[in-house]
Amino acid sequence: MDSSVLKARREKLGNALNNGEMVFIFAAEEPKGISKFLQNNNFLYLTGLYETPEAVFLCFKQKDKVYEYIYIQRNIPEMIVWDGAKIYPEEAKEISGIDNVKFLDEFEDSLQYNLSLSNKVFINTGLQNLNKPLNKQLFFASKIKERFLHLTYAEANQLMMPLRQIKDDCEIDFLSKAIEITGFGLESIFKNAKDNMYEYELEAMLFYEMRRRGLDHFGFAPIIASGVNATTLHYKKNNTLIAENELVLCDCGALFKNYSADITRTFPISTKFSKRQKDVYNEVLNVQKTIISMIKPGIGLTELNQKTGEMIGEACVRLGLIADVADYKKYYMHSVSHHLGMDTHDLGARDSILQEGMVITVEPGIYIKEENIGIRIEDDILVTKDSFKNLSFMIPKEIEELEEFRKK
Ligand code: GLY
Ligand code: MN
Repeated sequence: MDSSVLKARREKLGNALNNGEMVFIFAAEEPKGISKFLQNNNFLYLTGLYETPEAVFLCFKQKDKVYEYIYIQRNIPEMIVWDGAKIYPEEAKEISGIDNVKFLDEFEDSLQYNLSLSNKVFINTGLQNLNKPLNKQLFFASKIKERFLHLTYAEANQLMMPLRQIKDDCEIDFLSKAIEITGFGLESIFKNAKDNMYEYELEAMLFYEMRRRGLDHFGFAPIIASGVNATTLHYKKNNTLIAENELVLCDCGALFKNYSADITRTFPISTKFSKRQKDVYNEVLNVQKTIISMIKPGIGLTELNQKTGEMIGEACVRLGLIADVADYKKYYMHSVSHHLGMDTHDLGARDSILQEGMVITVEPGIYIKEENIGIRIEDDILVTKDSFKNLSFMIPKEIEELEEFRKK
């Protein structure tokens, strides 16, 4: 990633700040034991540093000038044989384009003066739970709160959301790659899955194919749900034997450079959909295509949700499931879209009005427990200047295409 991309993002952040405001973005913590490291997305978005646990990005504005710093861990020579060398200041500077790179042991002492001159502090505190101990960011906030009584405090996502909900070209490239990798994984399942396999065998196919094509992590725990399991929206046990003639719902996404795909496909484990499975599938597919075709700047997620509800209500009446369209929530109980980006459920309001550069999912479904049928179809859609681009267009979803795969 070119550091000019990162500079452009930080310039937007700087423009959003008032004089006297400071922003602290903490990197992800060093993993415990020998777990794999995954960088904090806000930190990565602004610095481009993938492998710098515990680091802190600091930015503040005074007299209309923006100052930027990164604080990183110092190498301990004896640890290099275990973990490899940590990033050196010159490398951090080269990658991020930030000139002021310091060590973490200088962090707190260097803040005194600027904290006393400031009036507001933004910190990426993350999700909070009253029943859990303070995380590192909140512990830091509590320390400065005790000493600098004049400051007000806010969550940094307030500043990050307007930036991150509009994707730049580099982000679209990374997302597209994550989607492409996910497509290869799904096609490997379409080709190789058989009844009498366990759902986790399909998950293993997915991992094998996606890992060899560049997956860093899963974007989220893959949902491989056969038969009735597909009616549990976030089923992730993936430990059931797949019975003959069932449908299998696969909701998964590769994480590539911290960008998450989020794709759902539902296919028959036999070579063909049954008549009933086909009828339900076609209703979901029709809704999905209609909602995708509505996407353009100016339309709201609320409107997409309303239209989805109406269409699914009518579909459920046609399928003989309900008599009154208003009762559709028994068979469809989630939203049709969420923002997609570094987080699978990315920063962005649930009632956003779409703008060019946003990426959202479109994922209607119908879940009929009493018939062991759960169908969801999900694509990842970029909002363009006056329309949309389906970034996952290449991953088959037509009945004929899926049956063709199954016959092979
Ligand atoms: N892929 C799971 C979800 O969007 O909730
Ligand atoms: Mn989704």
